[in-house]
Amino acid sequence: MAEHYAVQLRRAWLRLGREIILRGVDLDIAAGEGVTLLGENGAGKTTLLRLLSSSLRLTRGEGRIHGFDVQDGRSVREYVHLMPVEGGAYPDLTAAENLNFALQMHRLKGDTGAALRRVGLEGAAERRVRFLSAGMRKRLNLARLSLLARPLTLVDEPFANLDAAGRQLALQMLSEVTGQGRTLILAAHEPELAAQVTNRALHLRAGTLTEQR
Ligand SMILES: Nc1ncnc2c1ncn2[C@@H]1O[C@H](COP(=O)(O)OP(=O)(O)O)[C@@H](O)[C@H]1O
Ligand SMILES: [Mg+2]
Repeated sequence: MAEHYAVQLRRAWLRLGREIILRGVDLDIAAGEGVTLLGENGAGKTTLLRLLSSSLRLTRGEGRIHGFDVQDGRSVREYVHLMPVEGGAYPDLTAAENLNFALQMHRLKGDTGAALRRVGLEGAAERRVRFLSAGMRKRLNLARLSLLARPLTLVDEPFANLDAAGRQLALQMLSEVTGQGRTLILAAHEPELAAQVTNRALHLRAGTLTEQR
């Protein structure tokens, strides 16, 4: 399996409790591609994203992330960033502290002030995350996503909780991922919005992935 693929799954089975999320799935996503994951509530989109970030183990089959075994969490986490639907920030740290901490974890440098301005949070930099609204937290997560700029960026429901301006901001920041040659996989319930930043869509249903267009 080659490294110019960001994601490769072969006969992948994933069982979670009583649910079977993947039933022998094969998948190739080339490096630099933008892909939307569609599927109704409970279909397994979040679970699949967690698998790709090495937070869950395959039940059977094989998975590679940039050539590394998907179970090799240490290597995979160097390449992958997963932006969750909500959460993902430390509630007792300020917005700025959260971004600085994320950079330190990846041994990266970045302009956190500029990143906060970009998402309209310059006035909330010194506020603890627990006092931010859901939409403001989403904006903070977008700032982190753009600062970390991982080769494989996974985004769970990027448009949830955002106002109209926030959705436009999310679209802009997500289009930069593939614009910079990185790989983007997002789970969304807004296929029209998602189609503005990805050119491939996969539908997850009953453990099977189907190409949409
Ligand atoms: N930690 C877990 N343990 C057992 N089952 C889970 C767990 N997390 C999610 N599930 C189940 O897996 C299925 C897929 O969930 P999820 O991936 O969150 O779906 P989606 O993101 O597509 O809405 C659901 O039936 C859900 O109840
Ligand atoms: Mg989900």
